[in-house]
Amino acid sequence: MKITAVAPCSSANLGSGFDALAIALDAFYDRITVGESHTFRVIGDGVPNDPTMNTAGLAALSLIEDLGISRNIEIRLEKGIPKGLGLGSSGASAAGAVVALNSYFGLGLTREELVKYAMIGESAASGSPHPDNVAASISGGLTLVTHDSDLKVAKLSISHEYRFLIAIPDISIENKTRMARQMIPKSIPLNDYSRAIARTASLIAGLMQGDRDLIRIGMNDDVVESSRLPLFPYYPDVKKSALEHNAVGVAVSGAGPSILILCDELSDMESIRRSAELILSKYGISGRFVEAGISGGTYVEGTPISD
Ligand code: HSE
Repeated sequence: MKITAVAPCSSANLGSGFDALAIALDAFYDRITVGESHTFRVIGDGVPNDPTMNTAGLAALSLIEDLGISRNIEIRLEKGIPKGLGLGSSGASAAGAVVALNSYFGLGLTREELVKYAMIGESAASGSPHPDNVAASISGGLTLVTHDSDLKVAKLSISHEYRFLIAIPDISIENKTRMARQMIPKSIPLNDYSRAIARTASLIAGLMQGDRDLIRIGMNDDVVESSRLPLFPYYPDVKKSALEHNAVGVAVSGAGPSILILCDELSDMESIRRSAELILSKYGISGRFVEAGISGGTYVEGTPISD
């Protein structure tokens, strides 16, 4: 028997919600198939076979070991989500692996348990088990994940129809997320802390209430995005121009280099795209632009999709 899960890409942080907020988008999907095998391994184009070397394998190993399942699993990865571009590619593979295994062994794991195992997989890509991308990929939509003494995932409702424009620069940075996480300051002044809290709250309230002013305030960050600016120097110009063309808000997608531009019916998406393309080219960078809507969560092929 084999089980295939399909997992969406996601944008994490959304400006102020570092490691806590993320949204699943319908731009790209990974397919992850699990079945039993002689050895525990991962297969797929350009994927290391050693399960500890990739996010799906590491997530699967942690689940199997933790639950005392003594079986060898083969994981086949079909990557539809481009890697290393801040689109939650590593998280989606890990999310798909745990959702597929949950179905394969009939484990009945909760959303939090799925996220717990999937986030361990993220260590293979970034050196630390951050939960935001996997939470969005597993649950779909806009998610808030708290990782305090306990892990909790909340799916937040969005009260307005938004469209997303993803600017995807053609840049490849080795070990990008690992490096980007090392660039963040270890401590911050109280003023920055208090502003970040207000912005995160503003973003959540804005998305839930359909208030574009609150969203625009919330999609800003002076701590994480600023510290990583050397990785995406074009970002301030793209953001300024997109806001001038009435984007609702603009943020770095995950650890970059992609940029997430949130649009509504007042936004001039075509001008935003053209102007961003021009700005990227001034930095000597080519890029592509993908329009996206909000995606549902990871599902197992052949089973009804639940919310
Ligand atoms: N919250 C994570 C980060 C997302 O910004 O490092 C990485 O995709």
